[in-house]
Formats: sequence, structure tokens, C-alpha cells
Amino acid sequence: MNPSRTPLIAGNWKMFHGGQSSVPLAAGVVEFAKELTNVEVVVAPPFTALAAVAAELHGSPVGLAGQNLHPKPEGAYTGEISGPFLRECGCAWVIVGHSERRQYFGETDAVVADKVSAALANGLIPIACVGETLAQREAGETLRVVKAQVEAFLDVIAQSSEAVAIAYEPVWAIGTGKTAGPAEAEEVHAAIRTWLANKAQSLADRTRILYGGSVKADNAAALLACPNVDGALVGGASLDPGSFGAIARAAQAK
Ligand code: 13P
Repeated sequence: MNPSRTPLIAGNWKMFHGGQSSVPLAAGVVEFAKELTNVEVVVAPPFTALAAVAAELHGSPVGLAGQNLHPKPEGAYTGEISGPFLRECGCAWVIVGHSERRQYFGETDAVVADKVSAALANGLIPIACVGETLAQREAGETLRVVKAQVEAFLDVIAQSSEAVAIAYEPVWAIGTGKTAGPAEAEEVHAAIRTWLANKAQSLADRTRILYGGSVKADNAAALLACPNVDGALVGGASLDPGSFGAIARAAQAK
């Protein structure tokens, strides 16, 4: 394991725990994170919970992420949140281009690239998401689709010295209980690493590639054992500190 690729376990709370209920959940994450060595833990609550969660995480090693950002720093964009606002709330991270954003909010590869760029410009570490649909996988198009998604922001991340994260989340594995097997995940992660290395070896060395899609306490260890799986982006199982903690502890074995 490359030392700059410390395992990263990120919890995407999606549209859950947007208010007071975020605080005990954050407290539970802080509690288990105290016991961890050599694993980085990040949580991404809804925007309305960021300030309360930031207060709860204060003084802990747990990082805070936004779930999305607007490419512009400010402006007349009703309902949007910018990179500087996330920074002001205490975020060091932001999820970009999640498949739910691509699927339900029309985010194209070009929009995702703009958002990755805006994140880096504002000192936020992007967790840039890629992944194929079931139809694309069944048509044998997985690597072609994921390569195009990665290539859309490749120049942007290559120009930055920041160590960004890429999350490979096969759409068919999100919230379905179907996980890519370790071999299926490793095939795509290794391909992503190669595309990064073709751009610059240093980029491949510093980029953490996370797996996401129905990661649970009982399948995390096998996925995290893959050489090119540097962590996990966890949805449902991150809403329970017990299961999220078990996933983070599985990453310690890397
Ligand atoms: P689940 O872990 O609920 O499948 O969600 C994965 C995900 O979309 C994380 O961003």
C-alpha cells in the first residue's frame, strides 16, 4: 500500500438525517473513529445538518463533506450551495457527480468536471463518482463508460497537486444489496489506476479509488483486501455507527 493512499471510509448520508437526528449519528462516528489507526473517516450529511455535524466533529479526526456543490462561488442560483459555503461550514471534502446527481439532476460529465475544478479551486477534496448502469454492464461497456467519465475530469485532477478520491460506484449496486464481487471491483479499480498512470504516475500514486455500492460490514473486508481498492463510499450502512464502524475497522487490515 502506498503511504499516500491511507484507507478512506466515507459515509454518504444522502437525504437522511438533515436535522437534529444528525447529531447522535455524528457522535457515534466520533466514538468509533477514536479507536482507529491508519484509516481516514469522512461523513457527508445533508446541507442543513452540516453546521450541527461540524460542531459535533470538532476536535475529532472525522472529516466533513458536502454531497454536492455548484461550480460558481456565488450568484443568483436559487437553491444551490457553493464551494466557499461548504468551506465556511467546516467541510474539507465534497462528493461530486454521484450517480443520483447524474441520474435525477441531469449532471453530465462536463458538469462533473466543472464541479471537480470548483472543489479544488476552493480547497475542497473532491470524491468524484463514476460507475456504469446495469444495461451498460450487460452490454460489456463497463470500462468504456467508466473511462469516459474519468477522462472528463482527468486533466483537472492532473493539474492539481491535491490527492483527490475517485469513487467507483456501479449504479446497479447502489442501494440494491447487490455488490460487485471483489474481482469485478478490482478489475475496474485497476483500470482506473492505469488510466491515471498513463496521465502521470504521481497521479496514480496519490489518488485513492474507493468502492461504493451496498458495502456492508460483512462484505467490506473482501472488497477492501483488493490491491486497488483504497476505501469505500458507504450509503445505507453509514447511517448506523455500528455497521459503519465495522466497515472502518475492516479497512484497518489494509
Ligand atoms: P449504498 O451503500 O446504500 O448502496 O449506497 C452507495 C452510495 O451510493 C454511496 O454514495
